[in-house]
Amino acid sequence: MTSCKDYEFLEEIGHGTYGVVHKVRRRHGDNVQLLVCKQIQLTAMKKTQREHALQEAKLMSKFECPYIVKGYSSFIEDRFLNIIMEHCDNGDLESHIRRLDGERRQMVEERIWSFFLQMAAGLHYVHERNVIHRDIKSMNMFLTKAGGIKIGDLGVAKVLSRGTPMANTVVGTPYYLSPELCEEKPYDQKSDVWALGCVLYEMLEKFKKDWKSKFRAFWSPEGVCDAKNDV
Ligand SMILES: Nc1ncnc2c1ncn2[C@@H]1O[C@H](COP(=O)(O)OP(=O)(O)O)[C@@H](O)[C@H]1O
Ligand SMILES: [Mg+2]
Repeated sequence: MTSCKDYEFLEEIGHGTYGVVHKVRRRHGDNVQLLVCKQIQLTAMKKTQREHALQEAKLMSKFECPYIVKGYSSFIEDRFLNIIMEHCDNGDLESHIRRLDGERRQMVEERIWSFFLQMAAGLHYVHERNVIHRDIKSMNMFLTKAGGIKIGDLGVAKVLSRGTPMANTVVGTPYYLSPELCEEKPYDQKSDVWALGCVLYEMLEKFKKDWKSKFRAFWSPEGVCDAKNDV
């Protein structure tokens, strides 16, 4: 069975809501593979949150799409869920936009189109499988040096069914919430499309800070709504 011993843990590349994300190395004979391990502390979680974490691992390994971060395996060790996934070697889109902002530069139009189309194709793949991502935002879009962008962090995704074609719990990150979510109405995949529109706006907007400051009056900037009541 796979365990942490099979991986050499390298530097920390992200600090998530419930744990840490490390770059890891795996050797198969002469073959060395760079991967990512997202470690989620299950004990700190409520039952529904734990279920979401386990579902994230399941969805990531099931999905086969070049525009979604691929999950290779997962295992529980010392009360941590470890999700081993592909490594996106160019950081996340939010950091990329922030870096450009700092240099008073904007993304070139071709890059915006390329990123937008890849994200839209990834989201279409998710939606076709009756899943709502529910946390589409630039911080959850991971870049590769080859110019690719992949949707990651399926940690609050909702699997819909024939009996429950809509979700109800307000989940997501304030800046990206669709009108129906703000009004606490039932919602479906279209709320992800709204959030993707916000990501497009971020890529187009010259100084994102202005946009964010407009929303600051209403929302705490770090606040992520809780999925604890989700069914
Ligand atoms: N596959 C990956 N490749 C590169 N960086 C990653 C990858 N997965 C996560 N990260 C980094 O770790 C951060 C947190 O991961 P994420 O899956 O978004 O966790 P959380 O649910 O806590 O937000 C990301 O914003 C990103 O910077
Ligand atoms: Mg995230």
